[in-house]
Amino acid sequence: MSFAIIFGTRPQIIKSAPIIQEALKSGLELEIIHTGQHYDYQLSQIFIDEFSLPNPSVNLEVGSGSHAYQTGEIMLRLEKYLLRDKPSLVLVPGDTNSALAGALTCVKLGIPVAHIEAGARCYDMSMAEEINRRLIDHCSKILFAPTLNCKRNLEKESVLGEIYLAGDTMYDVFLKFEDEVDRSDILKKLGLSDKEYGLLTLHRAENVDDPVRLRSILKGIGEAKMKVVFPIHPRTVNRLKEYSISLEYSNVRIIDPLGYIEMIRLLKHAKLVLTDSGGLQKEAFWSKTPCITLRDSTEWTETVEAGVNQIVGADAEKIAQAIRAVDEKYDEIKERFKGNPFGDGNAAKKIVEILKKKDLSNPFDRDSAH
Ligand code: UD1
Repeated sequence: MSFAIIFGTRPQIIKSAPIIQEALKSGLELEIIHTGQHYDYQLSQIFIDEFSLPNPSVNLEVGSGSHAYQTGEIMLRLEKYLLRDKPSLVLVPGDTNSALAGALTCVKLGIPVAHIEAGARCYDMSMAEEINRRLIDHCSKILFAPTLNCKRNLEKESVLGEIYLAGDTMYDVFLKFEDEVDRSDILKKLGLSDKEYGLLTLHRAENVDDPVRLRSILKGIGEAKMKVVFPIHPRTVNRLKEYSISLEYSNVRIIDPLGYIEMIRLLKHAKLVLTDSGGLQKEAFWSKTPCITLRDSTEWTETVEAGVNQIVGADAEKIAQAIRAVDEKYDEIKERFKGNPFGDGNAAKKIVEILKKKDLSNPFDRDSAH
């Protein structure tokens, strides 16, 4: 049996890393296919280097474009490699356009798909990621749910594939790199001290492509009485320019996007994090850093129920209020970081063990896909 894993973006490389390492350790044949959705060093190759992953054997070099362009073009470019290499099963992590295009291309060729991070739901169909993850889940043969909530979501939707509660591979990575994170000198490099700053990430289309939402978010953050460090995504750089928004005289300090180790180091020592990322909400939980989510919903409801993640959307007053609330109740919030619904750090091991036991001898037999 030979397997393939398809990724194309920063968070997908993080989610894939422990699976690739585990597969290599256990002698599982695994081809790595990069779609090229992310292509800047800081959004892609830096993670391959940090995690010492083998370089992908294929890069589809799709680049940037509309949803239809990215999804369609990846499908067209991917098909010929799948027909050439005929993997027994393909793994797709996460909810990006690369993940959807990968899953669709496979199922249309009769190649079974395993979805990593299956069952995550925020129930907001205006988000590209929610559409992607729903479609992927409903065409996958194997669904690896990171949490019990995710498993229940899949059961509620009566997906046809087999559901496994595997844990979150991002937590595997978090544990594995703890020592390296602690050795990072990024705080010193940026002249920051423990708990004296906030950390901001902002890149979701629904926030940064809408000038009203973007201005409102930045206004709310501007009222914080602390420095806010902002490793900025290129999409956001472009939008700030386009809308002539300057942060030069504000409390927000823009820096280049960071790799995994430096980012987690900044997160661990921040007083709070403001983000519209999905992964960072979980990483904040594991870092015991209070989180303020700049979205109207979240798929990681466990962090909200624990009382350590406030969902505030783009409303300036709500954002400012949430920052004040963390300031006022900081010690109380820190006490709430208990338990971990995201597994035990062995998700990748479990996933690889399950895959090894699968009988997928006839990858092109459409009936075997379900
Ligand atoms: C994508 C994912 C999102 C994920 C995010 C992680 C989808 C629909 N969205 O969003 O779920 O959270 O990745 O970062 O798949 N750009 C560069 N260099 C790059 C890549 C992008 O400059 O290497 C710029 C381009 O101007 C591009 C824009 O960023 O148009 C957006 O990139 P895109 O891949 O479309 O989506 P992300 O916002 O990165």
